[in-house]
Amino acid sequence: MSRVLSGIQPSGVLHLGNYLGALRRWVQRQDVDDAYFCIVDLHALTLDIEPEALRSQTLDAAASYLAAGLDPDRAVLFVQSHVPEHTSLSWLLECTASYGELLRMTQFKDKGKGQASVRAGLLTYPVLMAADILVYDAQRVPVGDDQRQHIELARNLAIRFNGRYGETFVVPAADIPDVGARIMDLQQPTKKMSKSTSTPQGLINLTDSPDEIARKVRRAVTDTDNEVRYDTEAKPGISNLLEILASATGAGPDELADRFSDYGSLKGAVAEAVIELLRPVRESYEELSSDPGTVRAALAKGAEKAQSVAGPVLARAQDAVGLLK
Ligand code: AMP
Ligand code: TRP
Repeated sequence: MSRVLSGIQPSGVLHLGNYLGALRRWVQRQDVDDAYFCIVDLHALTLDIEPEALRSQTLDAAASYLAAGLDPDRAVLFVQSHVPEHTSLSWLLECTASYGELLRMTQFKDKGKGQASVRAGLLTYPVLMAADILVYDAQRVPVGDDQRQHIELARNLAIRFNGRYGETFVVPAADIPDVGARIMDLQQPTKKMSKSTSTPQGLINLTDSPDEIARKVRRAVTDTDNEVRYDTEAKPGISNLLEILASATGAGPDELADRFSDYGSLKGAVAEAVIELLRPVRESYEELSSDPGTVRAALAKGAEKAQSVAGPVLARAQDAVGLLK
């Protein structure tokens, strides 16, 4: 059994990209792996977020985890800030990372762009993420493609720390799917589907009704030549729809392209597949939203288990750098 860890920010309702790139794969992992999945609330503080929104979105994200099929008896589900070992380890890793390598993170450059004042936490964010991973001795980190560079940093920090202070951390590896790793915005198919989109019609939320899903897919931006072909450069809109359908059905995007002769029939098939894929998730989410007690109980159990693993790893790292016991 290998140890896997991943996390999602509670920065809004989770979307189809989170589901296909992350959540659905986590669900498949919970029986075969020793799985840890957290809601990274501290990461959400790197951008502007209202305190009440953070609290409610954290609970909503936890409900989405359970609705997607994660089971607190088979995986450790918890909130990052409930396990203070993450932030304690993060400091040791900040003193391992260099300022220059954090400046080079593309997500830092993207998210900081155009802001009058950039929070220091936005720069150190990938170090906290490395701590999230290393504090559990995680071997694999299932994420979407956008996190590749952050996992590479976590690996480098583990290797550097081990070299400097002696074998302390397991060096983790990214686990990125071939299909579904990068679902694009339906309205701007050259940008990844994201909670912070400027075109909400391009975003399919896990809570969207079948009608909303059908409407968003029908209005998805395509090109005008009406030829169904998988070509992410020349035909980003159509390729994204094929990728979504591939991810939902398990067939390959090229093979699917051969089955459709026009955009209308492709969109119809995509809408139907996504509606069926998300139907049980949405129904379960609605039930859990009116039952915060069940969600909180799952999180409390997860935090206890997580801390029992993170505590000894933190102690090992503190000892290695020479903190007095
Ligand atoms: P975030 O919403 O940025 O906290 O991302 C949580 C997880 O979902 C990470 O593993 C991301 O890589 C994954 N993810 C986010 N957006 C997408 C997307 N558009 N396509 C595929 N995976 C995604
Ligand atoms: N940075 C990740 C994202 O935005 C979320 C995250 C934080 C994470 N800590 C993590 C993912 C640890 C995997 C492992 O998607």
